[in-house]
Amino acid sequence: MKKTIRLDRMLGNLGYGTRSGMKLLVRQGAVTVNGQQVKDPGMQIDPDIDEVVLDGETIRYRDTVYVLLHKPAGVVSATEDVRERTVLDLLDPEVTVFSPFPVGRLDKDTEGLLLLTNDGKLAHELLSPRKHVPKTYRALIAGQVGAAETEIFRRGVTLDDGYVTLPAELAVLASANAAEAPGHPKMAEAFARVSADSSAWADSDTVCWIELTIHEGKFHQVKRMFEAVGRKVVYLRRVSMGPLRLDPGLAPGEWRELTDEETESLRKYRKDGTP
Ligand code: URA
Repeated sequence: MKKTIRLDRMLGNLGYGTRSGMKLLVRQGAVTVNGQQVKDPGMQIDPDIDEVVLDGETIRYRDTVYVLLHKPAGVVSATEDVRERTVLDLLDPEVTVFSPFPVGRLDKDTEGLLLLTNDGKLAHELLSPRKHVPKTYRALIAGQVGAAETEIFRRGVTLDDGYVTLPAELAVLASANAAEAPGHPKMAEAFARVSADSSAWADSDTVCWIELTIHEGKFHQVKRMFEAVGRKVVYLRRVSMGPLRLDPGLAPGEWRELTDEETESLRKYRKDGTP
């Protein structure tokens, strides 16, 4: 595989400007390679070895980007949409220059972990139905959830279209009557994020804060699983996907690139399927 890249292409790919703009900059002497000023925009660079400096800034070359977004409610998991704001609108040009796309979808009203990347192979592997990549959600549920629902989810629940889900792990983290639930220490933070027009919980006797891990990704799967047992999801947040965890330091709408440890954990996960 070719390891070198033209200098003007390398800078252009990183978003420093157009290829012709980069050619001009190089010819004007704005770039050094390994400490020497260069004037040839077509010079072949080995990004692993050569140190490229543009106007005093050392350039770190990469052609892939991995973004961990805390998706807020109200934006759609798409790269473009004629009517709605998309998750791409939340990112900065330093990463959108790589044309990332969301790995899977969260509903418009779902919050939480969304990975965006331009690494199509990784996305394909994480989304492959054969890989059964675990995805863990926390949710506020209107209605009682207990041992019966946990057992049904463990065995597989039949959705509205007849599909039987793979075994899923459900745990009830807290439950309270509807009057007390919004002030419950384990639920208050989630209640603060429930949209004003969602009053579903108010009519139910009990509200539960649950954690559910599923190993597939059918359309509206979590909501439909609870509907299948007569419950309603009031608020939904994804907290993990494969080896990636939602960063508690990211507020809804905030993002960062994956750390080296996280990209390494993804690499390892792809190789042997363990986090
Ligand atoms: N399941 C849902 O119902 N919605 C999501 O956004 C993700 C999983």
